[in-house]
Amino acid sequence: SFPIVVLISGSGSNLQALIDQSLQGQLNVNISAVISNKADAYGLERAKQAAIPTHTLDHKLFESREAFDAELQKIIDQYSPKLVVLAGFMRILTESFARHYEGRMLNIHPSLLPKFKGLDTHQRAIEANEKEHGVSVHFVSAELDAGAVIIQASTEISSNDTAESLGNKVHTLEHIIYPLAVKWFSEDRITFHDGKASFDQTVLPESGIR
Ligand code: GAR
Repeated sequence: SFPIVVLISGSGSNLQALIDQSLQGQLNVNISAVISNKADAYGLERAKQAAIPTHTLDHKLFESREAFDAELQKIIDQYSPKLVVLAGFMRILTESFARHYEGRMLNIHPSLLPKFKGLDTHQRAIEANEKEHGVSVHFVSAELDAGAVIIQASTEISSNDTAESLGNKVHTLEHIIYPLAVKWFSEDRITFHDGKASFDQTVLPESGIR
């Protein structure tokens, strides 16, 4: 089936959603490997429990971003993935790495892009008095959080929301839309041309998802 490699830095709850959906047969992909830049990322345990090969590549052991990304690329390409999935991978990528996987690397970002690129998105959305907040899945381009958006899901910000409560709501949405975007890509229903994503007509918006 469709080989993918997943990159993580932390808890890996999005990785778990992908594992669960592929075990349940809703998602027809094979997670060939999980790679973390942090040895203590809990997502590595999730991968091991699912008998998925894991690699740790500590960015602190490399003298430059270029050297780290070159080694990362080497490990990824051993698996010849059709798609690279960034699932909470908290590293800025070099232009050459981003270009190598252009049109075949996805990221999930916890905001309604183009709003709130970067970090601390939930707190910033509250402080900006936004009425809604959410999450985006996008193709990765060299510019941070700026690649073509594939799918977004939104939630209302209520007056008593904290960064934590809002983050929890967003995480629930992430676990729905990320597997969906990966499924569409694996079924060739999303394609990438000239920096833009295009969809086949069977990709229809679901309620709350746009
Ligand atoms: C997710 O909320 C994801 O959107 C975010 O990291 C979290 C990882 O959670 N990604 C970014 O902020 C990327 N800049 P997980 O490890 O439980 O999947």
